[in-house]
Amino acid sequence: MSSDIKRIAVFTSGGDAPGMNAAIRAVVRTATFHDLHIYGINRGYDGMIKCQFKRLERKDVGNIIHRGGTILKTARSMEFMTKEGRKTAYESLVASDIDACIAIGGNGTFTGADIFSKEHNIPFIGIPGTIDNDLAGTDYTIGFDTAINTAVEAVDKIRDTADSHNRLFFVEVMGRDSGFIALNTGIGSGAGSILIPEREGNVDDLINHLKIGARRKKLFSLVIVAEGNPGGGAMKIAEEVKNKFDHYDTKVAIIGHLQRGGSPTAADRVLASRLGFAAVEALLAGKTNVMVGEMNNKISYTPLAKAIKTPKAPESDLLRMAEILAM
Ligand code: F6P
Repeated sequence: MSSDIKRIAVFTSGGDAPGMNAAIRAVVRTATFHDLHIYGINRGYDGMIKCQFKRLERKDVGNIIHRGGTILKTARSMEFMTKEGRKTAYESLVASDIDACIAIGGNGTFTGADIFSKEHNIPFIGIPGTIDNDLAGTDYTIGFDTAINTAVEAVDKIRDTADSHNRLFFVEVMGRDSGFIALNTGIGSGAGSILIPEREGNVDDLINHLKIGARRKKLFSLVIVAEGNPGGGAMKIAEEVKNKFDHYDTKVAIIGHLQRGGSPTAADRVLASRLGFAAVEALLAGKTNVMVGEMNNKISYTPLAKAIKTPKAPESDLLRMAEILAM
């Protein structure tokens, strides 16, 4: 592969996701293999603005494939949202002779990258790293598999205590705008109902469903609520249900940031390795302003703007399936 690119910067940005370290490792090792100089940027776009670049060698990414979080740290940068901030970031890259960037992150990260690479002429490749799985152009994002496994493990534990006490539990999982985590956690843990941002739920429908369960002598029940559920989070829904249907002793559990940490699953490590490798090779092949993804087990390239703007919602039929299976 011949290319003018000699020095690449890699960074993580937005919410961290398990598997980001495996992606950084793959980027660094692939770049080193191709005799490129690779720099890690501390704390995403904030570090880019502040010129916080550090040369990374093969050994710097040893012993990290299994670690959650991100060794490069991350941030949601307000300054980068301004034209001035992006200009300063560009000047930092130029001052450090950086020829191209690889961004590991989600929606916010790629929105910034897309604007930036159109304002300033610098090749950019995105790697989808977010627990939300809400980017088009990849079947799964890095971190999603670990997050749903963490959530299912938590719900399994809640199931034990719900069963012992004959209780109705509302469990809130992450997903401000996206229901992938809630849906997959619900199906994987055998929950009775699942409320997601993509579907305007109705508390009366939920209550009817719970009543059917109660008539069938269901002694306890689990409802998974995405934090971005249009009717409200687990607290609000639990309160509304309790006011109209107090058959069960009702409790709420919010899993929260537990879902963002922990050692990545094998699936996330493999995906991260594959996408990190593909990102460097894509840059060397002259691609820019695209996100590398995996679709039907093949590497895909999607323009950043398309990856963030194309709606990607869970199959609505799966909600029906989950309810039928839990009856
Ligand atoms: O985008 C990932 C995510 O974990 C969302 O599911 C959640 O709504 C958000 O980040 C929480 O962000 P923060 O950690 O900044 O509160």
